[in-house]
Amino acid sequence: MTKYIVEGGNPLYGELHISGAKNAAVAIIPAALMVSGSCRIENIPQISDVKLLLGILQDLGAKVRFINPHAVEIDCSRLQNRRVPYESARRCRASYYMLGALLGRFGSADVALPGGCDFGGTRPIDQHLKGFRALGASVDTQSGFVIAEAAGGRLKASSIFLDKVSVGATINIMLAATLAEGLTVIENVAKEPHIVDVANFLNSMGANIMGAGTDVIKIRGVEHLRGGSYSIIPDQIEAGTYMAAVAACGGQVKICNIIPKHMDCITAKLSEMGVEIQEIDDSLLVSRDGSLVRSNIKAIPYPGFPTDMQPQMAAVLCLAQGTSIITDSVWSSRFRYTDEFKRMGAQIQVDGNLAIIEGVERLTGAQLEACDLRAGAAMLIAALAAHGISEITNVQYIERGYEDVIGKLRSIGGRIKSVEVPEEEPVAVSSAG
Ligand code: EPZ
Repeated sequence: MTKYIVEGGNPLYGELHISGAKNAAVAIIPAALMVSGSCRIENIPQISDVKLLLGILQDLGAKVRFINPHAVEIDCSRLQNRRVPYESARRCRASYYMLGALLGRFGSADVALPGGCDFGGTRPIDQHLKGFRALGASVDTQSGFVIAEAAGGRLKASSIFLDKVSVGATINIMLAATLAEGLTVIENVAKEPHIVDVANFLNSMGANIMGAGTDVIKIRGVEHLRGGSYSIIPDQIEAGTYMAAVAACGGQVKICNIIPKHMDCITAKLSEMGVEIQEIDDSLLVSRDGSLVRSNIKAIPYPGFPTDMQPQMAAVLCLAQGTSIITDSVWSSRFRYTDEFKRMGAQIQVDGNLAIIEGVERLTGAQLEACDLRAGAAMLIAALAAHGISEITNVQYIERGYEDVIGKLRSIGGRIKSVEVPEEEPVAVSSAG
């Protein structure tokens, strides 16, 4: 088992480069299934979710070849299999994009439902299935699989109004509609940068998708997608995570290879909190040497403040003077990580989807256990800012979404190392209970 050892209490200085966006990559890789030819995807992040999804494509018969660590060639001309087994699907939630891709291309899909999410609450996919049914597919859930069949072998265009703004449903229905017959209109869609990136990828392969990034997406179905090449956008959340680290630790770091527009909501919030942020072409120079100011954060769909940044911001607000409130309007219970922060001396009260944070002078290092991807990243930030040594376990969560996180943090002065420890023996609980 791997754990991170962090010596906190030091400001961060230097420069780092942001990788390709995880939440774009985990949708674009399944989208490659729809291309009857070879496609080259550049700026792909080296993270475990990408490796898992490429493995699923190979199990389906795709040819996958890395041209270099950040560029992969995928050829799905001849697929032998259209069933994604539970063993694969459960390890990466984004495997559900295989549903839209396979159903769109072949008129049928048989994909195991992903397991429970790694943060509180359920993660339903009713809106995904609503979209598939609207496009003329019969959809059944049997023995943990979603089995979908398009009547007549090809989906037919439809108008769909999503009951809830959903990134996953927006992307999955867009995938399915790409090769459907006619003009599909999807309303009340999500507008995150990674949705625009998936639409741009599909259009670069010959699709006809309009309006991604607005409230209405129109897709004129085409007969097939040819090959091509595409480069994934930089990761808004990875960049925001490192910005939050500088805010919490102090110092000055140049964060390179970003799209400043995507960072607007995070930049605005950190500036409010006393962080200096200067835009220089495709980089942001982030500095903090004064005290942090309290702030309230409401996580809502893009272009609002992203829910995937609320744990990281909580780590910063623990050190801000005054009382701050975080409300997550996207996920009903995404504050499990606050229990770990309390062990470092943080003063936080949680009530459902709301957290009240009383800033403290300092946090102290502790033993921490990551409980999901962004919570793990937030614990890294808290540990780097805390006085003393912290140990973080369950770091596989962090490595799902952050490429070379140790290398990047060390390049800006973070005192962190990764150590292998023997798997812990399960603790025997005495019958006395
Ligand atoms: C994507 O998850 C991201 N994951 C999540 O990031 C992110 O937190 C989320 O979007 C919101 O931005 C990927 O892109 C792989 P949703 P997704 O469908 O698509 C409800 C990370 O840290 N809903 O936008 O699963 C749902 O319960 C991960 O990178 C339905 O009710 O999120 C939630 O309350 C964690 N029915 C809300 O909508 C549905 O059919 C938003 O969910 C679908 C969703």
